[in-house]
Amino acid sequence: VTAGPTFEPIDPVRGLTNRSSGKQGYAIAAALADLGARVTLVSGPVALSAPPGVERVWVETAREMQAAVDAALPADIAVMSAAVADWRVDAVASGKLKKAPGGPPSLALIENPDILAGVSAPEARRPALVVGFAAETSDLEANARAKLSRKGCDWIVGNDVSDEVFGADANAVTLFTRDGGAENWPRQSKAEVARKLVARIVAHFA
Ligand code: PMT
Repeated sequence: VTAGPTFEPIDPVRGLTNRSSGKQGYAIAAALADLGARVTLVSGPVALSAPPGVERVWVETAREMQAAVDAALPADIAVMSAAVADWRVDAVASGKLKKAPGGPPSLALIENPDILAGVSAPEARRPALVVGFAAETSDLEANARAKLSRKGCDWIVGNDVSDEVFGADANAVTLFTRDGGAENWPRQSKAEVARKLVARIVAHFA
């Protein structure tokens, strides 16, 4: 399970990150562990305790997250709920960038690796079930289904994040499956969403 934001440094004191608190991903790790799964939780910087029985691996950047996910394979199930930065700063400054009369610095960004797409790629170590998330602010179904197909995962949890999701204790999601299925789970606690997803995973393997 991946959870939380990533943090991409700009210089030794600044960085690019996002509003993910890790609550949804940590709840999923907890729900899996409660049912007896052996869980590795690859976590970006958050202020949460590791759920009981879960092995937590701290990471900061997307590339560190990718390496930690690789190290956690093989696995039967991957649930990728982290909010991974799509881009990082190309040339991280070794010293603190200073205000200068010429105006603010320009930051050149380069693309980060897509961890979900890498885990979903058909190879010997691909988990039997790969579940991604899609955080969207418009056209949830179209965007989530496009990600499902582009990244090659089996299911994608569509999450409309335009209102009260990041950092909140509740969430409303739609589970989209590769066979065209869609299940709406109305707003409920992130723990409930996690238990529903894990129950769905259990049913899939049963
Ligand atoms: O942490 P909380 O405050 O509880 O909030 C929960 C949440 C909103 C972060 C979570 O429910 C959620 O929606 N997670 C996905 C966040 C996201 O950034 O999604 P995305 O649509 O940008 O990415 C799509 C998928 O690709 C995700 O599974 C993501 O983990 C993965 N990805 C994205 C970019 C990248 N470089 N590598 C990836 O693996």
